Amino acid sequence: MNNLQQTDQIIRGWLEELRMDVLREMRDPLAVSEKTSRKDLVTNIDKSNEKKIVSFIRKFDPQAQILGEEGSGDDVKDMHGHVWIIDPLDGTLNFVKQRDNFAIMIALYIDGKGVLGYIMDVTSDIIYGGGPEIGVFTQSHELKAPANLTLREGLLGVSGPMLVHDCYNLQAIDEASSGVRILGSAGMEFIQVLTGKQNGYISHLMPWDFAAGKILSKTLELLVTKVDGTPVDMLSSNDVLVSTRNTQKDILNMIR
Ligand code: IPD
Ligand code: CA
Ligand code: CA
Repeated sequence: MNNLQQTDQIIRGWLEELRMDVLREMRDPLAVSEKTSRKDLVTNIDKSNEKKIVSFIRKFDPQAQILGEEGSGDDVKDMHGHVWIIDPLDGTLNFVKQRDNFAIMIALYIDGKGVLGYIMDVTSDIIYGGGPEIGVFTQSHELKAPANLTLREGLLGVSGPMLVHDCYNLQAIDEASSGVRILGSAGMEFIQVLTGKQNGYISHLMPWDFAAGKILSKTLELLVTKVDGTPVDMLSSNDVLVSTRNTQKDILNMIR
């Protein structure tokens, strides 16, 4: 593989190409099917995007393992060597219902360490990407670590179902924040926290939902853990808390 700066440019090129394809293909009627429920959808574009990303990665990094949501990758059982974790379209329900507020996410881990992560806000054409060795950049500027706000001082992104069911005492936690936001895309929620517009996000997530965001968050001094503060498992689902240090402290004092 090339050096990280070159790899960064190559991945950004893939994302721009994917974006152009999505914008063109979404003018035609979508082929939508249900996965586990009417709220868990997949479209022809989720599937075709994943196939394209897998083929980009196979050519670029042939020995790597690929973990992808729609099953075009490998049956990844460990994090040894190069592991790419991809969400070809995050926020599919938004994509279907709004044609907006969805993301493409790509992450590269080497021997379990997050190296490069990318979240592309497709309709805004903004890529949030990079990693601990090169920093986090959009196309126009470098992101700096957001202010270390307390829970009370900022907005908290949450999963709608977890709030409704009051998981972890979430209703009281939300009450203690300045307000709650529910965006319906893990990628879009990560972007809010990375840019300091929200000081936290809580949701039940699969590895492809948090793999890229975790790398970018860590680079910007944010924490990504399970809701109880313990490390996330990169190969299974987790109840994930993304936050500033102070907000994590406040939330850990309130969870039940
Ligand atoms: C979903 C979104 C949503 C989160 C779900 C994810 P998908 O991803 O990120 O915000 O609450 O858990 O499955 O299925 O649209 O890629
Ligand atoms: Ca997806
Ligand atoms: Ca997702």
